[in-house]
Amino acid sequence: MKRILVTGAAGQIGTELTQSLVGRYGPGRVLATDIRDPALWASRCAAEQLDCLDIDALRNTVTRFGATAIHHLSAILSATAEADPVRAYRINMNGLVNVLEVAAEAGCRVFVPSSIAAFGPGTPRDPAPQSALQRPTTMYGVTKVAGELLCDYFHSRFGVDARGLRFPGLISYAAPPGGGTTDYAIEIFHAALREGRYTCFLRADTRMDMMYMPDAIRAVIEVMEAPPEGLTHRNAFNVTAMQFTPDELAAAIRSHVPGFRIDYDPDPLRQSIADSWPSRLDDSEAREQWGWRHEYDLPDMVTDMFRGLNEQLAREGALAAGR
Ligand code: SER
Repeated sequence: MKRILVTGAAGQIGTELTQSLVGRYGPGRVLATDIRDPALWASRCAAEQLDCLDIDALRNTVTRFGATAIHHLSAILSATAEADPVRAYRINMNGLVNVLEVAAEAGCRVFVPSSIAAFGPGTPRDPAPQSALQRPTTMYGVTKVAGELLCDYFHSRFGVDARGLRFPGLISYAAPPGGGTTDYAIEIFHAALREGRYTCFLRADTRMDMMYMPDAIRAVIEVMEAPPEGLTHRNAFNVTAMQFTPDELAAAIRSHVPGFRIDYDPDPLRQSIADSWPSRLDDSEAREQWGWRHEYDLPDMVTDMFRGLNEQLAREGALAAGR
C-alpha cells in the first residue's frame, strides 16, 4: 500500500502534487512536509515541518510515517540559486543525497524533478534530444545534472527505484513560483488582471519551453506508476507541452484582456540563463516508454489560468467583504 512523503510540499509543484496525491490515494496515505511551518500553509493531509538537510529528522519522519515513496521537491530554482550558488549547491545536493540514503535504507521509491536547466549552451537547442551533451552554466543546472546521475547511481548500486522528469517552465496559479527564470510566464497573468500591463524581464523573442501544471502533475503520477520494465531512461525523462515567446504569450493574453500592454526591460542574469537553455525538449522517449501526452497547449493554458485566477480573486474578494 502506497504511503507517500512529499518534501517541499508548500512550493509551486508541491502544493498541487500533494492535492492530487491525496485525491488519488487518500489523505491518510500522504504526508506533506516543508521547511516552512505548516501553520503558514494549508494542506489537505497531515503536514509537518521538515528540513531535508537534517538526515536524522528525515529518517525519523520516513520511519514513523512508514513511507513507501518520497517525492522530493525541495530545491532552490535557477535565478535564486545564482544569488548564493554555494548555498544552492548545499541545499539541492545535500538534501537529495539524504533523501536517497534514507530511501535506500527504508526501501522507498523516489521521485525527483530535473529540469530543462540540466542542459547548457552546447546542447542542440531545438529540440534538445533525450540523450545530449549536459554542460549547464548555472548552479541550478549543475545540481540538476548531478542529481540525475546520483539518482541513477542509487538505482544501479542500491536498487532505489528513483525516477525523474526534466520539466520545462511550469505555469500555475495555485502557489507562487520560487525564483525561476521562467517565472515571467506566471507574473504576466497577475499583472494583466491587476494593471492591464506587464514589464517583462526577458527579451520579446525569447522562445522557451513550457508546461501547464495539471500536465506536470499528471506526468509525475504516470511516470511513477509506469511498469519498470518499460523504462530505459529513469533520470530523467524530457517532457514538454508548448513553446512560446513573451510576445506570443502577450498576444494570447490580449484575447482575454483587450488592450493588455507588454514592455521589455531584460534582466541580464535571467536573460543569459534563458539563452543558455534549449527552446524545446524532445520528449519522444517519454511518449514511447510510458505513454506521456500533454493536454494543454498555449490557448487552453491561458484560458484556464484566467479561470483559476478569477476564481481566486472572487474568493479573496468574498473573504475581504465578510471581514
Ligand atoms: N522553472 C525553472 C527555473 O526557471 C526551470 O526548471 O528555474
